[in-house]
Amino acid sequence: MPKKPLTARTADRHRLYEWAVQCPEAEIDFVDRVYRKARGRHPARLREDFCGTACSSCEWVKRRAANTGIGVDLHAPTLRWARLNNLAALPEDARSRLTLLQRDVREPSSESMGMDAVLAMNFSYFVFKRREVLRDYFVSVRKSLAPGGLFFLDHYGGWESMKVQKERRRQRGYVYEWDQAQYDPITGDKVCYIHFEFSDGSRMERAFTYHWRLWTLPELQEVLTEAGFSRSTVYWEGNDGKGGGDGVFKPRKRGEPDASFICYIVAEP
Ligand SMILES: C[S@@+](CC[C@H](N)C(=O)[O-])C[C@H]1O[C@@H](n2cnc3c(N)ncnc32)[C@H](O)[C@@H]1O
Repeated sequence: MPKKPLTARTADRHRLYEWAVQCPEAEIDFVDRVYRKARGRHPARLREDFCGTACSSCEWVKRRAANTGIGVDLHAPTLRWARLNNLAALPEDARSRLTLLQRDVREPSSESMGMDAVLAMNFSYFVFKRREVLRDYFVSVRKSLAPGGLFFLDHYGGWESMKVQKERRRQRGYVYEWDQAQYDPITGDKVCYIHFEFSDGSRMERAFTYHWRLWTLPELQEVLTEAGFSRSTVYWEGNDGKGGGDGVFKPRKRGEPDASFICYIVAEP
């Protein structure tokens, strides 16, 4: 964490993002737990699609010496940031087991095949707005899985996800603002921004912008089936007894009509 107070001029938007919305340890715990329970062994080859700063694949290669990782993202400057910051901070042995590829996630290459686990997290696949495009992406993921491999996605929904609203959350040294700026109920199109605000009053406006389609869980499970996955399971979060989630995700066939929720989907070919 920072020693000097953060300001819009000095703060690094990628770090602010990671601190505010990512928890790679919990994400990789989940992947390990679900895979081991399903297959009776640890997964070893993981691909992080839409990897951005490659936070989760860095956690993956740190975890076990047998683990190898591939991070895939289109955006060269973000991958450069990942190399200079997150990969540079890895022990050399772990770094040598992680490869970053600058490419579209729908165009797998030979090195990104034979995966035990493919991850598409933080709703990044919402970028695919048309059903056939999303289905093509899911098909390419299915084809890149090794026997026994699993596809992990997260999802967010609930009636508040369709609201135009801003949500502010205090982090150490700054405020994270999630701005649901537009939602169209006919197309499902949604525009969101992340802004950051600092204790000196300065702001980083639109540090990140998302043009998404808000997919629903039944649609996603249908598209996974159309893409040839034989089964998909929703992992729903338990209740902490105070109106919030407890961070423990379990397979469920029915959910609750929460105002907002985050869950995982795990799909198998
Ligand atoms: C919301 S960020 C996700 C960052 C990180 N994986 C996470 O879980 O928070 C979305 C990332 O997807 C990348 N992206 C968008 N469309 C893509 C595509 N078709 N192929 C590869 N990467 C893509 C963007 O460059 C961006 O870095």
